[in-house]
Formats: sequence, C-alpha cells, structure tokens
Amino acid sequence: MGKKICFTFFCLLSLAIFSTGNGLKGQPSNTKLFVFGDSYVDTGNSPRALSKTWKPPYGITYPGKPFGRFSDGRVLTDYIASFLRIKSPLPYELKNFNRKLIKYGINFAHGGTGVFPTIIAINQPNMTTQIDFFQQLILKNVYTKEDLRSSVALVSLAGNDYVTYLAKNGTLKLSQFHNQFLHGNLLALNKQIGPVFIYLDLYKAFTSALHLHRGNQLLKPCCAGVHGEDCGFVDKNGIKKYVICKNRKQSFFWDLIHPTNEGWRTVYLALQPSLKCLLY
Ligand SMILES: *[C@@H]1O[C@H](CO)[C@@H](O)[C@H](O)[C@H]1NC(C)=O
Ligand SMILES: *[C@@H]1O[C@H](CO)[C@@H](O)[C@H](O)[C@H]1NC(C)=O
Repeated sequence: MGKKICFTFFCLLSLAIFSTGNGLKGQPSNTKLFVFGDSYVDTGNSPRALSKTWKPPYGITYPGKPFGRFSDGRVLTDYIASFLRIKSPLPYELKNFNRKLIKYGINFAHGGTGVFPTIIAINQPNMTTQIDFFQQLILKNVYTKEDLRSSVALVSLAGNDYVTYLAKNGTLKLSQFHNQFLHGNLLALNKQIGPVFIYLDLYKAFTSALHLHRGNQLLKPCCAGVHGEDCGFVDKNGIKKYVICKNRKQSFFWDLIHPTNEGWRTVYLALQPSLKCLLY
C-alpha cells in the first residue's frame, strides 16, 4: 500500500497543507468528515449564551442568521464537505438535535481552543478532549471501523495557543510543541481514521499576510467596531457599535481574525488541486 503524500504551498498566504494516506479510492458518497480544532473550522459548537457567533451580524451571508460560525457565512469545513459531496458535519454540541446528519460525520471543533488551555476559550474542550469525544462515539459504535476507513479528518490549529503564550509572555517554541503533539495524538488519530488526514496550520500564513499587506483595503476586516472593538460589539444600552462593509464579497477578513464566506472560498479554491491529489 503506497502512501500518498501531497503538499501544497501558496504564495499569497504562504499556506501549507499536507496529508498522508492512500486516497479514498472512489466511494465519496459514504465519506464522513471528522473535524477537530478551532474557530476556523467550528460550525456551531461555541456556547450560545457566550459566543458572538450566535449574535448578529455573524451568519448574515450564510445561512442568513447567526448560527455559530466565526464568519459572515461558510467556513473551511463547509467547503471541504461540499468537495466530498456530503453535508457539513453536525456540530458535536448539537448532535442530539439532528441525528440524521450523523452519517456525514461530526464536527468537534470549538472556537478559541488549542492543544493547551487558552485564554480565549475557558472550559472549552481542547484538542485532546475533542479526540476523546470522538473515541467515545467509536466505543459506543456510533461509527464502525468500516465507516472510519472512508473518513476524512480535518484538523485546524490556527493560533490560539500562540496567542495565549504571547499574552503570558511565554518563550516556548510552540511549533516544536505542535510537532510533538502531531507525532503523538494526531498520528494515533490518523491510525484510526483512514486513509485521509488534512492538517492546517494557518496562523503563520494569515499573520504574515497581514504584516505584508498592512493597510491594504482587501485585508481590512469587513465588520469592525466603530472604536476598534470587535465585530458585533453592542454597548450596554443595546446600541450597535460596529459597521459592516458594503461589499462582503470583496473582503478576505470578516472580523479581525476570521475570513469571510468569500475569503474561505478563495482558500478552498486554492486548496482544491491538492484535495484532489489527497483524496482521489
Ligand atoms: C485538555 O483538557 C483536559 C480536560 O480539561 C485536561 O485534563 C488536559 O490536561 C488538557 N490537555 C492539555 C495538553 O493541556
Ligand atoms: C509581558 O511583558 C510586558 C513587557 O515586557 C509587560 O508589560 C507585561 O506586564 C507582561 N505580562 C505578563 C502577563 O507577564
């Protein structure tokens, strides 16, 4: 069984994605997508009461109202699901509401989380806990070994660990930690989920793009607080204190750190050739 390894690099974002596996060898209709990580792939696991993603103007483009995504619309998960010709997998926290969707996989990603405890998402499941949730479902036979053979894993560790360490003046070399983590937990996961594994570390890509293009209109967030607050900020009298750009399709970033529906589409289009290489 020859392992297939695909790499891709983009000039614009200097984004890297890689995977090892044998491809799906047809049968895309049975494919399941399991998603782990943070806000770049979360489609509704953040707590409703606390997260800005459940409040306007998030979700204004898709599905048309706030629905737990850190975007005005779709995130990378949704585009990768459409590539696999399946519905976007059910967010783990909503798994009891729409069990019909379980056949497309589960999204365990929680915005703000990382491998380590972060300052952004207190008490939200870190990567290890997300993988534990997944393993519990396997133990309960919600997914069989056969199911896992035609599954794809999408993992995003976009930068909450970096942000946390910077805020704490940490001097740890996080990339080293992430690599150790990759060789531990994620490779164990890869043994269970075969044959395809996609790992994205977009943080450096986005931040270097931001540094390069500082002041570039294209990379200004579409939605921002009037006095530098975050998108969606409402004052204590309930008055909106944010503005949304006129043309969302022309903005790569929706808020300060999350791409728009269109931004993710651009990333997805750039990833498509390597997804084809990885999966088929
Ligand atoms: C992840 O969270 C669990 C449960 O809170 C905790 O026991 C574990 O130590 C955390 N992992 C890391 C790497 O911090
Ligand atoms: C981090 O370093 C800065 C500058 O050296 C200092 O002002 C700040 O208080 C430090 N923060 C923490 C959490 O130690």
